[in-house]
Amino acid sequence: MPAEGKEAVTSRSVRVLIDGVEVPEAEAGVSIFDWGLQRGFGCFEVIRAYEGHPFRLGAHLDRLARSAGTLGVPVPPRESLEEWVRAVARAGGDCQVRVLLTGGGRDPLVATAPRTVVLWEPVARLEPPLRLLPVEAPWHPATDRSPFYAVKWLSYAANMASTDIARRQGYDDALLLSPDGTVLEGPTFSVAWVAEGRLETPALSLGILPSITRAVVLGEAAGRVGLPVREGVYPLARLLEAEEGLALSTVKEVMSIGAIGERSLRMGETGDRLAAAFRAIVAEEAG
Ligand SMILES: Cc1ncc(COP(=O)(O)O)c(C=O)c1O
Repeated sequence: MPAEGKEAVTSRSVRVLIDGVEVPEAEAGVSIFDWGLQRGFGCFEVIRAYEGHPFRLGAHLDRLARSAGTLGVPVPPRESLEEWVRAVARAGGDCQVRVLLTGGGRDPLVATAPRTVVLWEPVARLEPPLRLLPVEAPWHPATDRSPFYAVKWLSYAANMASTDIARRQGYDDALLLSPDGTVLEGPTFSVAWVAEGRLETPALSLGILPSITRAVVLGEAAGRVGLPVREGVYPLARLLEAEEGLALSTVKEVMSIGAIGERSLRMGETGDRLAAAFRAIVAEEAG
């Protein structure tokens, strides 16, 4: 389907765009022969829109382009992607905008073109504090030397299954650990904690996703509240001793962690100040 962005953005209610063309939600879909579906071959982004303004759109589209480049999945022109995300965000107000780039199907009999899907989602309503179950994650590269470092690909099955394992045991989500017990990240979020007057967080060299929220919190919000930051390689014991724990993501923003396994963590003032600073940054950017 050719990109016809101009047509797409005329609608006030645009919820789903496929290759820039508005499609009714009930009819939207990709081919069953698309490797995005068959093999998780593709990549994605989730962007938060505040009152119709996509937050850090440039950083999300940069990461999407990097993911697609690593996988060899085609990316539409940047101006088209921006236009499509802005159109869905504008119509959605306070919402999440999901962007999917599929790999397309390569069977010569049923070859299908790669697709770009931009879709509206309601903001996930989550109740803090989060209770996390530590889960060993041998599928995680745990190093930035992986060729797939920083790729936000559609192959999230192991991460999502670990969330389900945690939920079946009465937790909200998993905390992924390397086999040697190093703290990595959540299945869909980064983690940080307050210890000895600092904000500590796993280093990107551990192959965790370069989270945009993490970058805003470490690079901007922490400075505003006068909190020094240290990135490092930490065993689970370090987080269990922390004064406060935080989950960071586009969807969760800055959210308190109330428990890791059996261990309870305090919901504290530092997390509240960081969350407020993050909100202020969002408000300034949304104008
Ligand atoms: C594995 C993982 N880590 C961290 C994050 C948080 O990234 P961001 O702040 O860019 O949403 C995500 C987001 O989906 C993720 O999937």
